[in-house]
Amino acid sequence: MKQQDSLLLLLMKGEIKMSYVHVVTGGGSGIGKAVATMLPKEDTVIITGRSLGKLNKVAEELNENGHHIVTTTCDVSKRDDVRKLAQYAASLGTIKKVIHCAGVSGTMANVETIVRINALGTVYVNQEFYKVMNDGVICDIASNSGYILPNILLPSKKTYALALDDEEGFIKKMAKRAKIMHKEDVDVQFAYMMSKNFVRWYSSQCAFKYLTNKKIRVFSVSPGFVKTPMTEKEEGEGTENLLTYTALHRGAEAEEIAFLITSLADERCGYFIGADVLVDGGCVNNSYSMMTAAKKYDNKSLIEKW
Ligand SMILES: NC(=O)c1ccc[n+]([C@@H]2O[C@H](COP(=O)([O-])OP(=O)(O)OC[C@H]3O[C@@H](n4cnc5c(N)ncnc54)[C@H](OP(=O)(O)O)[C@@H]3O)[C@@H](O)[C@H]2O)c1
Repeated sequence: MKQQDSLLLLLMKGEIKMSYVHVVTGGGSGIGKAVATMLPKEDTVIITGRSLGKLNKVAEELNENGHHIVTTTCDVSKRDDVRKLAQYAASLGTIKKVIHCAGVSGTMANVETIVRINALGTVYVNQEFYKVMNDGVICDIASNSGYILPNILLPSKKTYALALDDEEGFIKKMAKRAKIMHKEDVDVQFAYMMSKNFVRWYSSQCAFKYLTNKKIRVFSVSPGFVKTPMTEKEEGEGTENLLTYTALHRGAEAEEIAFLITSLADERCGYFIGADVLVDGGCVNNSYSMMTAAKKYDNKSLIEKW
């Protein structure tokens, strides 16, 4: 019997398992790290981000526990980096799951960088992995912040569509909209909210085409406040106020979000396509809105207007 035939026989008998490749952007910390921990140990999991040291530390920790984690750097705001990442992943085997967690918050970067990383980064990840995958899952991480801006303040879908063929025009329009409140520090928060609203929109736009053409299931997940390095410095009145809107009066653990993500990415959730899951402890549905966020920034004019 040929070696190929005997391998096939063992596979059919379930005596050996086919191992796959999964990619977690932002896998060096927080939600991404928790996702990498929950993906099948027998598969190869590539974790990426900008700081190799951080990634290697996570890989070392998980590989000691039997995982097969490999690391490589990738700045998702650079299309070339993402293209190389996708090609590298494809060279290691069949890519099944791409969990796109990389992102920055409104306290970590300026408006342009937030838009480049969170919004354009998602376009690059989805588009470049679409080219190299033949089925599987792409899960984009948005945020409940993407739900709290009233429609009247959100950019038009025409502006969002610019991300696909006029990146500089898209950034300019998003930056202009972020300045709508004319208040320092509010523009970056606005940029974050808009970038995450964009992620949810873009993810849903990809879903039909990706599934129809390549059987790739695309969806998004929108967490509320999660205890990760991103939110470490976000203590104080604003955060306390936000947490009172959650039914449990606390932020989520990264593992609670990662379990949801990996469950939705499981092939048994095959009918879940193109939608977003809001996982914020009930915050938005308990009336957490732009007005409550505005209180955090003491923006009286917005509160009055609202
Ligand atoms: N924590 C929350 O409350 C919360 C709520 C809603 C949504 N989210 C979203 O959840 C995702 C994960 O965040 P987290 O809370 O787990 O925060 P985190 O621990 O800070 O993780 C974000 C990761 O993204 C990586 N990253 C940042 N910019 C990148 C870039 N340009 N290219 C590649 N990697 C980049 C960071 O690593 P490097 O700096 O080394 O690149 C970091 O490991 C983000 O998209 C975030 O917006 C978080």
